[in-house]
Amino acid sequence: MKSYDISKLVRPNVLTLQPYRSARDEFRGEASLYLDANENPFRSAYNRYPDAQQQNLKRTVSRLKKTTPEQTLLTHGSDEAIDLLLRAFCRPQVDNVIIPQPTYGMYATCAAINDVPVREVALTEDFSLDNSAILEAVDAQTRIIFLCSPNNPSGNLLDTRKVSALLRSFKGLVVIDEAYVDYSSAPSWTSELKKFPNLVVLQTFSKAWGLAGIRAGICMANPELIRILEKIKPPYNMSTAAERTILHAINRRYTTIRSQTTILVRERSRLNKALQKLSFVRKVYSSEANFLLIRVTDAVTIYRALLDKGIVVRLRSGALHCDNCLRITVGTPRQNDRLISILKSL
Ligand SMILES: Cc1ncc(COP(=O)(O)O)c(C=O)c1O
Repeated sequence: MKSYDISKLVRPNVLTLQPYRSARDEFRGEASLYLDANENPFRSAYNRYPDAQQQNLKRTVSRLKKTTPEQTLLTHGSDEAIDLLLRAFCRPQVDNVIIPQPTYGMYATCAAINDVPVREVALTEDFSLDNSAILEAVDAQTRIIFLCSPNNPSGNLLDTRKVSALLRSFKGLVVIDEAYVDYSSAPSWTSELKKFPNLVVLQTFSKAWGLAGIRAGICMANPELIRILEKIKPPYNMSTAAERTILHAINRRYTTIRSQTTILVRERSRLNKALQKLSFVRKVYSSEANFLLIRVTDAVTIYRALLDKGIVVRLRSGALHCDNCLRITVGTPRQNDRLISILKSL
């Protein structure tokens, strides 16, 4: 795919855009006195703007992800990356995106906010990709196919061969959202970035890294695509507080995070077995994420009964192929014990 020309996909106004540049974008190195950005000069933890180019963060995160800093962009949660992709590549009311259903709701919501038409294509009943239906939905204006693997809310991985086939035959961008990849047995699609210039991989610090509150996502793609997103991102989209927290997590908390993930994967299997034993559970879908989708006899009744006991799960009945389904996040061993014992008593 050497001849891939990404500039044909970019919105013309973005292609010609002169991005906002601060004085610090023009100046490299350490100055002895910063009088360029109208900051409060009295020193405190946060009196200075963060590094708009995220150099330190990109170096550390890309080392962790086995990518390069040029292939990496840090975003205000992966939700920001979804929005940036739509704004960079889809002309409102003209270009469209394809979203297999059921999946994470923000792809469609962000598309609607940006006035970008969505083509929903059903996953099969066992939540796998239907490549021919997807490719049938593609037209000359299709810019992005959003894939989520492991998929939310079903928890399954998407078939590697089918995803590769889409990457090869679709000329627009294939975005693979790997928010839950740390809980999965499959390798990340980041290893394929060199091979597929139309591949975009999204990951997040919100799940396994336990940092949902700081809002930090990772967008990885070929350097040319990353430079386009960099043009339109708000200059200081990652706060200094987020930057410090991420660096601390990667440098100091990696072992703890790994062992938490191991515990949750083990708990996922224990919870799965316990749920299968309940009389009102029809099916527990096998999951590669930190949640389980279960089909029950009457999801609303069980949802409300759990709420009465102070336990909130996600009612997914409204989603395609998810009649009477609940999505339950895997908790700590004690939290899961509590859930199981309450469910047994219903
Ligand atoms: C598949 C998927 N992608 C992205 C997100 C949001 O991630 P972030 O917190 O990084 O915006 C979620 C959150 O639930 C998700 O399920």
